[in-house]
Amino acid sequence: MGASIIDGKAFAATVREKVATHVARLKADHGITPGLAVVLVGEDPASEVYVRNKGKQTIEVGMNSYEHKLDATTGQEDLLALIDKLNNDPAVHGILCQLPLPDHLDEDLVINAIAPEKDVDGFHISNVGLLGTGQKSMVPCTPLGCLMMLRDHLGSLSGMNAVVIGRSNIVGKPMANLLLKDSCTVTIAHSRTKDIEALCRGADIVVAAVGRPEMVNGDWIREGATVIDVGINRIPAPEKGEGKMKLVGDVDFASAAAKAGAITPVPGGVGPMTIACLLANTVTACSRANGLEEPEGLTA
Ligand code: GUN
Repeated sequence: MGASIIDGKAFAATVREKVATHVARLKADHGITPGLAVVLVGEDPASEVYVRNKGKQTIEVGMNSYEHKLDATTGQEDLLALIDKLNNDPAVHGILCQLPLPDHLDEDLVINAIAPEKDVDGFHISNVGLLGTGQKSMVPCTPLGCLMMLRDHLGSLSGMNAVVIGRSNIVGKPMANLLLKDSCTVTIAHSRTKDIEALCRGADIVVAAVGRPEMVNGDWIREGATVIDVGINRIPAPEKGEGKMKLVGDVDFASAAAKAGAITPVPGGVGPMTIACLLANTVTACSRANGLEEPEGLTA
């Protein structure tokens, strides 16, 4: 059986279109332009690429983009002062502080200084608590993207067995909470889990978010299951030539695709959904801040 490939690139484009439509309506009907502020401390090359892409896509959907690039030696007080300024700026509806931060900065303190209603990453403890209790919150972008793809592919997720591999605050834990909210039976597996293979074999849905290249093998996948691969790992690719690298997920794509009903590829699966969902969260935050109707199909 060949799995259908869930095309995250195409799906992300439809999410961006929906965002752009809602932004155009906010502008035309209410004179409001949603604004996203991104804060980058230091010069991590991967973060710089990511921030550049965010800025570009923010403009493309018609929103305002505010980039704040700070020196790697920026002190805690100065960073908190900038966040306080953005919290109080009515033109800014979403604030994202790019992680990881340099070691001398306290990541938890910085994240929790962002006003919860502007926390488009959904990392603030208030948003984590709201999601954990099934209340309206800002939802972390990558798990939100995974949920959108699962709903689109499977319809109702109610009663399904889901295994989430990985227990990070950014993906694993919020993903588990979202699946639970959609009435799945959820297991979170991690590095200490016993017989992870057997757990996966019982799953209708497997979400892999561990950061270990091609760890999940086709033998672990139940016939017809839906597999969402969050991993983005760069590994040597000698078959492409000396010193060449390639991107692979946490799932061994070829063997898993032979068993799964549907699967996300890497690249081109979950990856493009993250920024699309960041834009979705920004337009949601802007709508809520103005007491307006939320965009349909862009929230959890
Ligand atoms: N660094 C890598 N991914 C992310 C993300 O989704 N949000 C933030 N703030 N930093 C990141």
